[in-house]
Amino acid sequence: MEIDQIQNIKNQAISRILEAKAEKELEELQVEYLGRKGGITNLLKEIPKIKPEKRAEFGKLLNEIKQAIEETINNQKSKIQSASWRTKSKTEKEWFDVTIPGEKPPLGHLHLITYTIREITKIFEKIGFTRVRYPEVEWDWYPFEGLNMPKNHPARDEWETFFIEGLKHPKYGIGVLTPHTSSGQLREMEVCKPPIRMLNIAKCYRRQSDASHAPMFYQFEGLVIDKGINICHLKGTLDYFAKQYFGPERKTRIRPFHFQFTEPSFEFDVTCIVCGGKGKLANGEKCKVCKEGWMELGGSGMVHPVVLKNGGIDPKKYTGFAWGWGVERLFMMKYGIDDIRLLFSGDLRFLEQF
Ligand code: PHE
Repeated sequence: MEIDQIQNIKNQAISRILEAKAEKELEELQVEYLGRKGGITNLLKEIPKIKPEKRAEFGKLLNEIKQAIEETINNQKSKIQSASWRTKSKTEKEWFDVTIPGEKPPLGHLHLITYTIREITKIFEKIGFTRVRYPEVEWDWYPFEGLNMPKNHPARDEWETFFIEGLKHPKYGIGVLTPHTSSGQLREMEVCKPPIRMLNIAKCYRRQSDASHAPMFYQFEGLVIDKGINICHLKGTLDYFAKQYFGPERKTRIRPFHFQFTEPSFEFDVTCIVCGGKGKLANGEKCKVCKEGWMELGGSGMVHPVVLKNGGIDPKKYTGFAWGWGVERLFMMKYGIDDIRLLFSGDLRFLEQF
């Protein structure tokens, strides 16, 4: 076996490969040269017969040729494939199997708080309430002074307020992060004349942090002002909401309470969703979720005449009612969740359960 002879085989192989027009031809050439009984394979088998001093040289050369042939076949194959793609008709190229199921991208859902806000809005929209937004960074007048809580009044302590250093309005006092949505009551009265049916859903801020209180949370505040509005309207509206949100079998009640900006004031309760209002579970144990069958939804009351006056509305002509409840609290009550921080943690293991 001569080196020239081997080079000839290589040249012949390469030129035949480069002339090939179809993949099938290439497959045949591959078998012819590199297959088990192929030309190069046979030459490799001859190596033991070669004189020992020339063996290494031959071996190396044959391997190089084998590689060169393989590479040329692969290159030619891609050339043929791309050429055939270019010549394919548009319909052939665009054909795809519609029966293959598509890949589903992972789909999220609205955050539970956003979802709850929309649910609340929808329920109240049905009975004529309009959702509004008022400032979360407020002047003292709106959450306090104008709501019948003069400076230094002890009732202010209930709202553990964040004050903003250096921010002061000549007429409306110092800057605060609003600790309740009741600040929206006066804002609404400033821009709307009765009849008023306001739903103010906004973030509130208080210096508090534990399993049931977060420094930032949401409240939804309702305000109704018109001629002849009385406690029955308050009870009826909030009873409607409780039944829509928690289910038709829920019962509600009002209990006397105190707020500076409503008179009379109430706490509004709904029957417990866990024990069904019995205070006891089926096995006779005391229900851990409620107090004797009732869960507290939040504060409400008839708008105080001083507040109406501060909002430019004549309390002799008009009366109204208001409530302000926590959005997170509402959601937690419905699903029996005991830690508000879960709602702000962004933990998908929790969020994906809903
Ligand atoms: N603003 C009160 C609170 O944060 C709730 C409330 C609103 C009470 C409206 C009465 C009327 O606790």
